[in-house]
Amino acid sequence: MRKIIALLITMIMAFSMCACGGAGSGNSGSDIDYMALVNKLNPLPENWEENLETIHMTNSVGEDVEVESKAYENYQQLKAELEKEDIYVDLDSARRSVADQERIMKEFTEKYGADYAKKTVAEPGYSEHHTGLALDLYLIIDGKDVTKNEDMVQYPEIWEKIHAKLADHGFILRYLEDREYITGYGYEPWHIRYIDDVDKAKEIMEKDITFEEYLGAVQPSEVTIDYGESKLFKEDELKEAAVQIKCNFASWKGCQLHSIRYAGDENSNEENLKWLNELNENQEEPYVECVEFLMDFHSPTEEADLKDTAWEPDKEYKDYQWFLARTKDGGWDVVSYGY
Ligand code: DAL
Ligand code: ZN
Repeated sequence: MRKIIALLITMIMAFSMCACGGAGSGNSGSDIDYMALVNKLNPLPENWEENLETIHMTNSVGEDVEVESKAYENYQQLKAELEKEDIYVDLDSARRSVADQERIMKEFTEKYGADYAKKTVAEPGYSEHHTGLALDLYLIIDGKDVTKNEDMVQYPEIWEKIHAKLADHGFILRYLEDREYITGYGYEPWHIRYIDDVDKAKEIMEKDITFEEYLGAVQPSEVTIDYGESKLFKEDELKEAAVQIKCNFASWKGCQLHSIRYAGDENSNEENLKWLNELNENQEEPYVECVEFLMDFHSPTEEADLKDTAWEPDKEYKDYQWFLARTKDGGWDVVSYGY
């Protein structure tokens, strides 16, 4: 009887450990790059699934959640440590397929509108959740599951205690408060990322920096932005456009941002709108509004930063144009930039 039970357990474990394609490395986790950067500008690396090893678990609300195996092992240790302080969490979502992400994007767009959806949900193919290393937690408070974003943010003291323990288990907080101009997303206290290195995780958390900054994948620059006097757009609408520009610019290695200014209402004209729609003729919804911004920046001086770019080295680029457009319910897309 004992043998049958042992065999059954082995079979169940074998079933729930899913080495997606290639050679996993048993309990020690997948043979993947735990430091991989997946963000608005960097999609899931090709062939990621080949060496990914995941497990499936069922959360307290009865949903199946798939997680990269080593991230899960470490999550369980984190959870046990938190329970010692009477903090209870569970996994809302971890690994997602591109189809899952499409469904979530649709749900959020219908429920909260496209603007909020874009700030909160990654484009399918560009979500860190595709890696299996990003975990969305939810809270269990007085035995009740607190799963909705708007409810979870009501517990800042609990999140603070959770965040203080992340690095000890190889996790970092990914979407920091007031760092939307770097990550492209608003604050998400629940979204943690496994990086498989306690020392690096500690450095990132102690310095209070984003993963992008740690990897040198951004050049955050706090320049003043001149929004001018617009009769067409509120300043908040122009601010949202400027965030998109800064997110794009952030990946231009070695470039120094000097200023950004709104180019004026006269450039939000039919002719520009028609041109931007032509550039993006494959998208389902047409753009209905556009804006132009002008930027001054300095091109890189280092050879390494100039590689694979068309910048003239060490040059001040003035009045560099950025064109953004949006659909009826959508947020701003950077559609074109250049001279
Ligand atoms: N909420 C994060 C940004 C995602 O959808 O991947
Ligand atoms: Zn998440």
